[in-house]
Amino acid sequence: MRWKWNLQFFFHYRWIEGPLKNYKKENHPNAELCSVYYAPLNFRDIMLATGKLPPDALPGNLAMQDCVLGLEFAGKDSKGKRVMGLVAARGLATTVLADPTFMWEVPKEWSLEEAATVPVCYATAYYALVVRGKLRPGESVLIHSGSGGVGQAAIAIALSMNCRVYTTVGSSDKKELLKQLFPTLKEENFANSRDTSFEQHIMEQTQGQGVDMILNSLAEEKLQASIRCLATHGRFLEIGKFDLSKNSPLGMSVFLKNVTFHGILLDALFDFDSADKRAVVELVANGIKSGAVKPLPKTVYSDDQIEEAFRFMASGKHVGKVLLKIKDEDDVTGKKMVKAMPRTYFDSEKTHVIIGGLGGFGLELSSWLIERGVTKLSLVSRSGITTGYQDLCVRRWREQGVQVETPKANVTTLAGAQAVIETVQKSGPLGGIFNLAMVLKDGFMENQTIDNFKAVVTPKVNSTVHLDTVTRSLCPQLEQFVVFSSVSCGRGNAGQANYGLANSAMERICEMRHRDGLPALSIQWGAIGDVGVVSDHMGGNETVVGGTLPQRIPSCLAALDTFLQQRKPTVASMVLADKTGGRKEGGKKTTLVEGVAHILGMKDVRNVNGAANLAELGMDSLMGVEVKQALERDYDLVLSMQEIRQLTLNRLKEIDEGEAEGGATEEGPGSRRSSSPTEPEMIDLNDESAAQIKLFVQELMPKRALVKLNEGKVAGKDTIFVVHPIEGQPIISFEIKESLMAIYLRSYVCSI
Ligand SMILES: NC(=O)c1ccc[n+]([C@@H]2O[C@H](COP(=O)([O-])OP(=O)(O)OC[C@H]3O[C@@H](n4cnc5c(N)ncnc54)[C@H](OP(=O)(O)O)[C@@H]3O)[C@@H](O)[C@H]2O)c1
Repeated sequence: MRWKWNLQFFFHYRWIEGPLKNYKKENHPNAELCSVYYAPLNFRDIMLATGKLPPDALPGNLAMQDCVLGLEFAGKDSKGKRVMGLVAARGLATTVLADPTFMWEVPKEWSLEEAATVPVCYATAYYALVVRGKLRPGESVLIHSGSGGVGQAAIAIALSMNCRVYTTVGSSDKKELLKQLFPTLKEENFANSRDTSFEQHIMEQTQGQGVDMILNSLAEEKLQASIRCLATHGRFLEIGKFDLSKNSPLGMSVFLKNVTFHGILLDALFDFDSADKRAVVELVANGIKSGAVKPLPKTVYSDDQIEEAFRFMASGKHVGKVLLKIKDEDDVTGKKMVKAMPRTYFDSEKTHVIIGGLGGFGLELSSWLIERGVTKLSLVSRSGITTGYQDLCVRRWREQGVQVETPKANVTTLAGAQAVIETVQKSGPLGGIFNLAMVLKDGFMENQTIDNFKAVVTPKVNSTVHLDTVTRSLCPQLEQFVVFSSVSCGRGNAGQANYGLANSAMERICEMRHRDGLPALSIQWGAIGDVGVVSDHMGGNETVVGGTLPQRIPSCLAALDTFLQQRKPTVASMVLADKTGGRKEGGKKTTLVEGVAHILGMKDVRNVNGAANLAELGMDSLMGVEVKQALERDYDLVLSMQEIRQLTLNRLKEIDEGEAEGGATEEGPGSRRSSSPTEPEMIDLNDESAAQIKLFVQELMPKRALVKLNEGKVAGKDTIFVVHPIEGQPIISFEIKESLMAIYLRSYVCSI
């Protein structure tokens, strides 16, 4: 199980099922499965969760994955030994797969709660001060934000090396705490971290020389002031990510003092075994033995208080570490039952096949399968790789170590389907098959031909029939048999009778398989956004197709995840065009004012001055990011941070009520592009007042109830009956149908 953050209106955190249920020791010879008892939060988690740190800034391929929160843990290894360690990601979990060379046994006299405060802080401080900065006994060091976890660890290390320590803090309480923890620190060792006054203090204390080393986490003008505090031959160690990711300029003249500037990224130690990593592990182990490494002060939250824990840490009020307690240390079972969202993961040892896998949706599906554990993939198509983008995707996956084949094959014949499955099975069992093949030949019935029908039907129907037959006999371990259908077969779409028929037939095959107890899932999608035929040929994500808006790919994949967790063989997912806008939470609409109040931590806004702006109401920059995201996502309001700070509760109420004036114009920044939710309009055709609409609808009805098919092409074949789609106009249609049935119906189309 892992924590998932989900940036909805405000933070929502919930447990979700993790991938380790497929864990097999032999597949991870260099990893240790550990049960997590305490999971600490780090600032990286806060920045990721609030969107301040883009996932691309994470090492390896973590950017492509979700649920990446958590960098460290304290718990027990597979033999029950008490351990603490570092992980590249996903430490906020009940179980982690940890690197045994990046963990330490917990000393007998420490509790696991205490141990959890150690790994990241001490590893970072040793890595920065000793490995990168090469701190020498007796040197002077300025340690910013000394009351934080890394700050305290750095002070402890520097003092253990008899260095002269200066540190900055944000309040007198924090100063007092540090004086208690480190009695050798006196008043002159402290300065303020909330402004640049520390520069003058350091210069006075060092007789204008500056310090030999600076461990910096302050940003902007405080970063610049810190650099000016560096002595000749000094080393500047930057652990804050703000200016690094903003690419702030530094100024070269500082290097005239023969100084060095180090970007310190602990992440760099995770990827492979390096001398630096071994040095850090040894330094921490020696520090534990010598007593330089001591547990840090902490605030502990329970596993159901994650939101409170994040907010507390984001507020900057904490001292030392913020921990989540996952299990009781007395719990010898190491097992934790939590209510978790089920999640789909795929067996990495089995091959997964996507027919039509090089198409728009196919490539996205491939990425998602890989993210969920697939390591062997076969993307079947008639043409193979034809575009640079397909080639790029395949190359990237191969670089990640995924085995990707792109065979050109024809699975519309039994022999073709058999050949594909047999080839795949040579490298191991088949885990899942997804049929996304599609050919479109749209046209009204009078223009349709048998060839058009065949072209559309064979990749869907024939392929599915043969894949069903072949996998029944050859693939007893098959876990997924999924076909991508379309709402056009359930609801009908003008000119797509052949496509509707093809999709419908695939669904019936899935239902048959389901009755036989075999894996089967057919998904009726509405229009798909971002990629695929609609996106390529009909316009962007705002295009309304058949009453649906294109469903964006991340949303489709989330729906697919849910569908794979249930047992119904035919399901549908679409975004109705007239049901968008606004946001509902648990069936109840959350107003903008309620949402913003929650972000600001206000329980009741009734007694709050509606004219006060959000900055005056205590909104900090992290909260500002949340408000901005909520306004953009749920209300289509694009405002600058400056404008957000100026928003008042009264103004938010106006926006809620749709009475926006002034700033919220139809055009330009700050404009509101969507209205509040509207219910779909129902038209009663028998209502006198709707006479005009009735007339209009009748205009849309086909004038000819009986449409002759292309005579030449159907000669000698049985009569074809084509009945209106379910959501056609049944009342009028059935009347016609009944009267026609008596006189022998040849073909009948009714589609609007
Ligand atoms: N895009 C949408 O809005 C939407 C909406 C509802 C449902 N769907 C369903 O989602 C699936 C994927 O749609 P998409 O938009 O990604 O389509 P796409 O980009 O056109 O991809 C379809 C792929 O199918 C392959 N194909 C066609 N006939 C084949 C055959 N006989 N054997 C193997 N491969 C074959 C094509 O490659 P070759 O030409 O090289 O064979 C093509 O790459 C389809 O099944 C579609 O019905 C899509």
